[in-house]
Amino acid sequence: MTHTGTQTYHVLNNFPQDIMQEIMQVWKDQNWKEVKEVVPDKFWHYVLEKDHPLKRRFDFMDAIEYYEVAPGFKNSPHLDRGRWCAINIPIEVDTENSFFHCGKYLWLGHYKLDPSKNDGNSYLHAAGEKGPKGFFLWDDDLMEKYNLEQPVLFNSKVPHGGDNVAATTNRVIASIGCTRYTYDQIINIIPPEWF
Ligand SMILES: [Fe+2]
Repeated sequence: MTHTGTQTYHVLNNFPQDIMQEIMQVWKDQNWKEVKEVVPDKFWHYVLEKDHPLKRRFDFMDAIEYYEVAPGFKNSPHLDRGRWCAINIPIEVDTENSFFHCGKYLWLGHYKLDPSKNDGNSYLHAAGEKGPKGFFLWDDDLMEKYNLEQPVLFNSKVPHGGDNVAATTNRVIASIGCTRYTYDQIINIIPPEWF
């Protein structure tokens, strides 16, 4: 699955293997500060200790979180509340039958808000707030899909999400968020050799 060159996300084709190994090992160890079953039997959020050694790897990023979803589950297009951008990293991902998605445009006026999700609180867990938030309707013409074969750096203030609907296995990703820099800043802070 190729990236057609939008400016809302970038595939990190050369994400360092030693960091990747460490991230994988954390998943294998299953040593969490907290496990939140966000949606019973469908969606789990794994939280690391604040001073976890993995964090020294990313002085420009903040929280490292792990997410797992069951087959049939999807996170529809939304804006993150507490962070400007993030790196999503595949841990256990069926690259044939699941995908990450991200809008092609920065201007939110391109997208239609999803009234069914914005009337109540469809954010499934608590978070701080920075900048715009909300849920949007899926539109094939506005969204780009990527199978998450490689880690992806994305603007989390562009509608984005994940889809494990067609898969038969759970989908696990790590997500490294950034609250101090925006996407256009972080893209020039991340070591260029990671791209
Ligand atoms: Fe998100």
